[in-house]
Amino acid sequence: MTVYAIIGGTGLTQFDGLTIESELHIDTPYGAPSAPIIRGQFAGRTVLFLARHGHPHRIPPHQVNYRANLWALKHAGAEAIIAVNAVGGIHAEMPAGHFCVPEQIIDYSYGRDHSFFVGELEHVSHIDFSYPYDATLRAKLLAALQAHECSYSDFGVYGCTQGPRLETAAEIVRMQRDGCDIVGMTGMPEAALARELELPYACLALVVNPAAGKASGLITMADIERVLAAGMAQVQAALAQVLTG
Ligand code: HPA
Repeated sequence: MTVYAIIGGTGLTQFDGLTIESELHIDTPYGAPSAPIIRGQFAGRTVLFLARHGHPHRIPPHQVNYRANLWALKHAGAEAIIAVNAVGGIHAEMPAGHFCVPEQIIDYSYGRDHSFFVGELEHVSHIDFSYPYDATLRAKLLAALQAHECSYSDFGVYGCTQGPRLETAAEIVRMQRDGCDIVGMTGMPEAALARELELPYACLALVVNPAAGKASGLITMADIERVLAAGMAQVQAALAQVLTG
């Protein structure tokens, strides 16, 4: 049975229902991961969990050690990765509380360690990244969202910004023109690093706010936290469904 790893984002620092077997403190050639990897059993299968921002949440998106996280998960035995991300909604049909399982990515982040292929290499490698997310894993997530009667979209382009500040309204207009449907700060380089390690990867994104300029008023953390609290119960249910399926 596939060993799934869940990378929990904002609002998801642990996976309920996991019978914890061990906490793996893995040192990597790239430094320390965000947190120990939790290894446990769920519905008769081994599951790994990693809190992307640390547990408690303390590492901002631009300072997450994505390479250490992915390397550590691979070496802990991960065979596929489900990433959970809180995002802003750009598409008119993606309001707060809505889920998106994106198909595509546009990367606006910069200055992040975004590849394992650095330094003196035996040969230069260019991974294919035409379709960044794994189709089978996406289908499983979509089926789980449907089973739990969540509001969701089966399409979407994830625009990854650098953060930690939120975007300007004009940046969101530009991103929409580019074709972005949701905006987050943690989708990259995580997805590309997973591909470099040949780990199937998909993203379960929860819209926690309308993106900048998409609603009257400002984006407040209080509003985001309210949506997160309700949405994460649905995330837990959807993940449980994928893991039992
Ligand atoms: N922009 C970028 N990242 C985010 C947002 C947003 O509006 N909401 C949650 N993560």
